[in-house]
Amino acid sequence: MTTDDSIRRPRTAPSIAAHKVADGVEPLVMVTAYDAPGAHIADRAGVDLILVGDSVAMVVLGYDDTLHVTMDDMVHHTAAVARAKPDPFIVGDLPWMAYHTTMAAAVENAARLVRAGAQSVKLEGGRRRLPVVEAIINAEIPVMGHIGLTPQSALAMGGFKIQGRRVEAAQALIDDAKALEDAGVYAMVLEGVPGPVADAVTRQVGVPTIGIGAGPGCDGQVLVYHDVLGIEDRLRPKFVRRYAEIGEASIDALAHYAADVRARTFPSAEESYKANEDLAEALSVY
Ligand code: KIV
Repeated sequence: MTTDDSIRRPRTAPSIAAHKVADGVEPLVMVTAYDAPGAHIADRAGVDLILVGDSVAMVVLGYDDTLHVTMDDMVHHTAAVARAKPDPFIVGDLPWMAYHTTMAAAVENAARLVRAGAQSVKLEGGRRRLPVVEAIINAEIPVMGHIGLTPQSALAMGGFKIQGRRVEAAQALIDDAKALEDAGVYAMVLEGVPGPVADAVTRQVGVPTIGIGAGPGCDGQVLVYHDVLGIEDRLRPKFVRRYAEIGEASIDALAHYAADVRARTFPSAEESYKANEDLAEALSVY
């Protein structure tokens, strides 16, 4: 099913910043995409935001975590998404080590994603990242925050672990969210936190929260393209709802193709170019 509600889609960082479900609007819909076909499909499905996520590392590039993806990779994939000229707002993900050294490097890397076609950047972390969030916003680049289970911190956190399960940890998340809002983020991802914690954060900040594994109370939801479509099979987190089995359908299609080639039923005469009579005659001596 495609939707034709492009007029209602928030298309700028300020319009997204004002989008709070408590005001009676529908939740925001964000999905990842990493190439032009994915961006076209997300656009035609009527999503609000496309995240060129560093999850590309795991679902496209075959790594076991997101720590191996580089700025060059992210620029390459952001540019591919942008070439599709999709209507949804494009968020480029800053990968690990793109914003952990100097402020100048962080701003320069954010600018590289914008020049590749992103309309904003996302980075992981709470209060510890405020200086870098402010530096990028000072360069006139909108920033989306990302707190809770932050996959770039997997080594430090001891794995992909649900965050904010204890009162102090939940309070720390609320404090991180408020600090990010004060620093000027236009939205923030809440990943891998109990629903009631996400609800409290959502009530405490004036910018939208976009949840993944954070329950239904956020101002929006995000899922990874390959999870929604049933292409990624290595991990099946509890929070993923698969809306299709494209992986299985693809295996079936390729198996049929292989069988047709082996049975010599592909290509058929209709799928082949013909030679005119002269050419056919000339070739008959060979
Ligand atoms: O890279 C990604 O896909 C993400 C989402 C999980 C929010 O950061």
